[in-house]
Amino acid sequence: MEGALTARDRVGVQDLVLLEAHTSETALLDNLRKRFHENLIYTYIGTLLVSLNPYKELDTYSKKHMDTYMGVNFFELPPHIYALADNVFRTMLSEFNNHFILISGESGAGKTETSKKVLQYYAVSCPNTSLLDNVRDRLLLSNPVLEAFGNAKTLKNDNSSRFGKYMDIQFDHQVGAVGGHILSYLLEKSRVVHQNHGERNFHIFYQLVAGGDDELLRWLGLERNCQNYSYLVQGDCAKVTSINDKSNWKIVRSALSIIEFSEKDVEQLFAIIASVLHLGNVKFATDALGYAVLKNVPELHWLSTVRLNIHKRCLQVYSPFAVDHALYARDALAKAIYGRTFNWLVNKVNESLANKDSSRKTVIGLLDIYGFEVFHVNSFEQFCINYCNEKLQQLFIQLTLKSEQEEYQMEGIEWEPVPYFNNKIICDLVEEKHRGIISVLDEECLRPGEATDLTFLEKLEEKMGGHPHFVTHKLADQKTRKTMQRGDFRLLHYAGEVTYCVVGFLDKNNDLLYRNVKEVMRQSKNTIIKHCFPYTEPDSKKRPETVVTQFKGSLAGLTDVLMSKEPWYVRCIKPNDGKKAGRFDDVLVRHQVKYLGLMEHLRVRRAGFAYRRKYDIFLARYKPLCPSTWPKWKGSASEGVLCLVKHLGYKPNEYKMGRTKIFIRHPKTLFATEDAFELCKHDLGGLSFCLFIKAINTDFYSYKTVKKLFTATATRIQNCWRGMMARKERDKRAWAVKVIKRFIKGFMMRNQPACSDNTEYLAFVRQNYLTRLKGNLPKTLLDKNSWPTPPPIMQEVRGTLPFYLRFYYTSMVLRNSLLVVEDSQIYLQFKALTSSMFKGKKENYPFSVCQPFQDTRISNPHHRLTPLTPSPWQPSGSLQYSVPLVKYDRNGFRPRLRQLILTQAAVYLVEEAKIKQRIDFNSLKGEMGTVEIKGGHQLCCAGDLILQCDYLFEALTKLSHIGNKESCIKVVQGSVRFDIQPGREGFIDFKSGQESMIYRSKNGHLMVVRMNGESHHSSCTPIRRGISKLIDSPVSQESTRTRSR
Ligand SMILES: Nc1ncnc2c1ncn2[C@@H]1O[C@H](COP(=O)(O)OP(=O)(O)OP(=O)(O)O)[C@@H](O)[C@H]1O
Ligand SMILES: [Mg+2]
Repeated sequence: MEGALTARDRVGVQDLVLLEAHTSETALLDNLRKRFHENLIYTYIGTLLVSLNPYKELDTYSKKHMDTYMGVNFFELPPHIYALADNVFRTMLSEFNNHFILISGESGAGKTETSKKVLQYYAVSCPNTSLLDNVRDRLLLSNPVLEAFGNAKTLKNDNSSRFGKYMDIQFDHQVGAVGGHILSYLLEKSRVVHQNHGERNFHIFYQLVAGGDDELLRWLGLERNCQNYSYLVQGDCAKVTSINDKSNWKIVRSALSIIEFSEKDVEQLFAIIASVLHLGNVKFATDALGYAVLKNVPELHWLSTVRLNIHKRCLQVYSPFAVDHALYARDALAKAIYGRTFNWLVNKVNESLANKDSSRKTVIGLLDIYGFEVFHVNSFEQFCINYCNEKLQQLFIQLTLKSEQEEYQMEGIEWEPVPYFNNKIICDLVEEKHRGIISVLDEECLRPGEATDLTFLEKLEEKMGGHPHFVTHKLADQKTRKTMQRGDFRLLHYAGEVTYCVVGFLDKNNDLLYRNVKEVMRQSKNTIIKHCFPYTEPDSKKRPETVVTQFKGSLAGLTDVLMSKEPWYVRCIKPNDGKKAGRFDDVLVRHQVKYLGLMEHLRVRRAGFAYRRKYDIFLARYKPLCPSTWPKWKGSASEGVLCLVKHLGYKPNEYKMGRTKIFIRHPKTLFATEDAFELCKHDLGGLSFCLFIKAINTDFYSYKTVKKLFTATATRIQNCWRGMMARKERDKRAWAVKVIKRFIKGFMMRNQPACSDNTEYLAFVRQNYLTRLKGNLPKTLLDKNSWPTPPPIMQEVRGTLPFYLRFYYTSMVLRNSLLVVEDSQIYLQFKALTSSMFKGKKENYPFSVCQPFQDTRISNPHHRLTPLTPSPWQPSGSLQYSVPLVKYDRNGFRPRLRQLILTQAAVYLVEEAKIKQRIDFNSLKGEMGTVEIKGGHQLCCAGDLILQCDYLFEALTKLSHIGNKESCIKVVQGSVRFDIQPGREGFIDFKSGQESMIYRSKNGHLMVVRMNGESHHSSCTPIRRGISKLIDSPVSQESTRTRSR
């Protein structure tokens, strides 16, 4: 069921228990119809199988199908009789107990076909050994033989079973089916002598006439024409197109040989069949006294000498009978001969099927008994048949209700009683001692005096009058009376009303055979007849049991046999009365659904819960739906299921946890679960699952094969994968155990001298400490208190840690320095140049060492030059250095603010945004002690420039480096001479004072006063005109002269 839940919309549910509207007969019918039209004739109600007669050959019974269903879980595949057969078989093997399959349904519903399918399944599933091959063949071939002798064409069924059959198949646990035994019930003997219109006698008569070879027929005195035999033509349909007597004869003939009928047996058997036909042709005339006399002596010849091997004289029984009486005696003899021969046949088949091994065997019983029958005129036979069905229905009710109740009790789940129609009242009406119909019938048969069918009816009216299930013409109300004859009584069976005609009830029940006729039979040399009419038979002084009492007894015996076994049910349904394929007659099916008790069974199954499944099976299927249970659940199956359903969000009232099974109340809960599972399967299966699904859609049969393959492969992969994961997990745990052990040991020995047991632990402690330390280093070297306390084994490091810290900081500094190494190189080159020019020559040089040089001292030298753009005095070359300074007039020493800008090509003196002077580096001529700046253009003047700069060392270093004029720098002690103009000189004098100043002294020199203790970079004053002298701050009397020419 689970395996095909997804197909539920197209073909209805496969288990009627899953019907949402489970109380609706219409819903049930719709479901059956939907499936029937898809050729899906089987449907479950739990473990009960409902089977619809397709009236056509379906291709679902091949060996391939048997293999598919073999060993597969009941609900995993679509419903099938093979699934049920297989499940019964496997349950029997696992529980080592006996089972039976009760196949019921009305005449023509397919009971016999179903029982044959089951038998075929068991026979084919037997292993192939020569011994078992024989058993298998006999099991299978017993069927056509029994059908030939016990089945006949009726209005309802061309192959109607006219006897009840219960067959035990015996199983050996190792090798399968090893034998069988058949019990037959109440053959409808009256058919031998009388058939209703449209019906036939037992098949074997027609088969013999049609198929027997000429020699055999000649020997039997038969002609190949059924019309010649009065016992074969009463139904007026000896020849039927749907039945091939000739080919069936061949099957029966060869089957008889296989099931060990000797040639002599076969010969004698057919002699008896032929005798019955001859007997039927015996006619009587009336003699002078009004007694019957034989008319056609030749028949007697065939009867006597050849066929029954009785002396002709013996056969002529002289009794003063009227013709009717004589005919009655003749028919009684024919019925007796046929009936007893049939019993012999069944015994003979049993001998052939018997298992010689006396060790204990388990059995599966197959009950294929005549179905409930309602004809236009119903007689004693229908009464017995319907009584039998009533008994089986009672058994069914008892067993299903009982077993259901037991299951609930066993699982510890509250049982909710289900209302159902208990047919006990009808069974009692028929069989109750001293009060039932059977008792009344027997009483009438056995009582002295004139008992007739009508007196029997009167007795019934007397005793049963007022019973709700019994009515006669006399007892009925006006309306009902119109539907009945005077000699009728009507029973309201569980399956519906049946009106019986009492005519013949007493006779048929008595089934008396005249003593002298019996005597004659005993003298027969035919071994079968001899066996059937033994001398040891109880004498007629003691009345034999009536037919119905015998039948009642055998049914009681059957009930006992069945009650001792585990029941399984197949309910066969006839879809239409016309034996037509594809026609589904709603009214007819609805009626059968009703009387077969399907609704009640469904209600019982659904009493509370629609679905139940063993925990392990449920978990195995749905575990991928929950991360905790997938891929493997480690606890018990029931815990797993609980975890799963909780994860799926089942509400508490939707399910119950039994002892071994989960019970789900509504089908929709299961459907939702199944839908989720379908989705999940896709996720899990990926490509391979897609292929698998494709196989499902394309070909159902290859799908089965693919599924098997897929399942096997998946299981293998799962096994390997789980094995690998388990090994990994085991290794991981073993490793963890080792590590934990070592750790604990190391911890215990942590204070002991280092050894192999604690090395690892101590290393861990050290590492742990250092990791902690890394995040908590003191901010300064001097901070000795905020060091994290080292563990005892690291006490010795406490002293050395500051050293390491210093090392750490140093390395940090170095690292950072290296990052700027390129800049540093250039910087150091400048400093080295300054040093070479001024170290030891100029007093305030040491103070300049720590002063970093910069590329510019003007915030935006470019900006300052921008307004000059249209001027022809544009600076050429990229900007290298700029610094603000003061220029002094050479004559009056008036100070003016200027910027000195150095490019790669020239030196510029700029006032605001105006280039005042441009001097090419090339025109700067150096001589010792001076820097000559010779202007090669109109701005160039004849005298020196007197400039004062706060960044003397920096400016001169840059100038000398960019202009490559290191050699032109000269440090002069004392006064500095400069050219006011060529041939006219001026001087700059230096002295210390209270405050720094620059002025024109009285002697016409430029006086630079340095404040006492003033730093070297305080202001300086340019003093001479004509010569460019760069004067640093007036801290010392040293100055640097630059000279321009
Ligand atoms: N599964 C089936 N596949 C094909 N045809 C079937 C199937 N079942 C039944 N039939 C057809 O229906 C006919 C009647 O079936 P069957 O003889 O099994 O009925 P039955 O229930 O045994 O009736 P009865 O009570 O009269 O013996 C068969 O002869 C066969 O033609
Ligand atoms: Mg049958």
